[in-house]
Amino acid sequence: MGDSLLLIPGPTNLSKRVRDAMAEPQLPHVGAEFYSMFKDTVSLARYVFKNQKGVQFVFTGSGTIGMESSVVSLVAHGDRTLTLTNGYFGRRMLLLNQIHGAKADKLEFPEGKGADPDSLRKRLRKSKHSVVFITHVDTSSSVSNTVTELVDECQKAGVLSVVDSVCAIGGVPLDFDRLGADIVFTASQKALAGAPGAVLLAVSQRAIEHMEKRKAPIESYYLDLTRWKPVMEDPKMYLATPATQVLQALRVALTEVKEEGIENRWARHRRLGEIAREKVAEWGQELVAEEGHRADTVTSFWVEEGKAGPIQRTLEEEHHVMVSRGIYDDKDRMIRIGHFGILRPEVLRGSLDQMGSVMEELGVAPGRVRATSRRR
Ligand SMILES: Cc1ncc(COP(=O)(O)O)c(C=O)c1O
Repeated sequence: MGDSLLLIPGPTNLSKRVRDAMAEPQLPHVGAEFYSMFKDTVSLARYVFKNQKGVQFVFTGSGTIGMESSVVSLVAHGDRTLTLTNGYFGRRMLLLNQIHGAKADKLEFPEGKGADPDSLRKRLRKSKHSVVFITHVDTSSSVSNTVTELVDECQKAGVLSVVDSVCAIGGVPLDFDRLGADIVFTASQKALAGAPGAVLLAVSQRAIEHMEKRKAPIESYYLDLTRWKPVMEDPKMYLATPATQVLQALRVALTEVKEEGIENRWARHRRLGEIAREKVAEWGQELVAEEGHRADTVTSFWVEEGKAGPIQRTLEEEHHVMVSRGIYDDKDRMIRIGHFGILRPEVLRGSLDQMGSVMEELGVAPGRVRATSRRR
């Protein structure tokens, strides 16, 4: 156990250098070595996000902290917000808006369909929202939303926009300075190939001003981005003890992204996405995401009800390759393959060939198996 190839949508396989970084003697978070390591990490994060204009944040917490700190820092009780949903993580973002007292509207698209910029434009004309929340790649369905067009609509309407890019950054092209979104965030354990436990956010100056000028106080200590901002500039400031091993691992993972070159990494992920989609087509199964909205970091497809568990189990037992099933209601009829991080195309191809033989062995029928029920 513990040595399977991970083809789950996070966490992902770690390089030896990243694993070694976590096995170093404990680094105190007060001391020159940590300060320099941290500054380096923030600067590498700027490279990955293409963020030279905004403020770059890196701190301890999972991707959900990226979601919740964006909501808490930007949205006051009673503010009207709009969340685009076409998968589980969009719905979670909506829930967070509700929990934190927003008048939380949603613009819902069917699972598997991309969020439509025209519908967003019309919705923004109808009522005044303070922030729009967009999921870049919804890991539950592997739908990739066209963030450039969606953020553009927000900009035209003069509304702040937040992009959850947890399942995209590092594997899918994104240029923060050009995009014009107000917050884009990711987590360490997906396409960046770090250990789980760090959140990275790029935040526009406009969003910072919004946070600093808001009348109602930000109702959190740890999730308040204005408290973290000075720490990013001067890591000697203490706010909370960082998970130093996770950050050391992240620094190495980001270094590896830079060594590969972000554009090359995007191209490799494009190839990974193509391979996964070609294989699913070969098996005759139906992809969850519609054409034109298919992610290069994760691929989900429908299988006969009840087959997802046996496929997952057999693949791991016989070939030491781990894939995921669907979330909640989809767990028995959806397979999700995570293909990001340091994964090489030939390794993915070989593992998917093994998956093909497992499906044959199990007698998984090809064909269209659409899920119909509603989900959490
Ligand atoms: C798109 C998306 N957003 C947010 C999250 C939440 O991240 P975490 O599980 O690290 O809290 C995930 C996790 O898979 C995700 O895929």
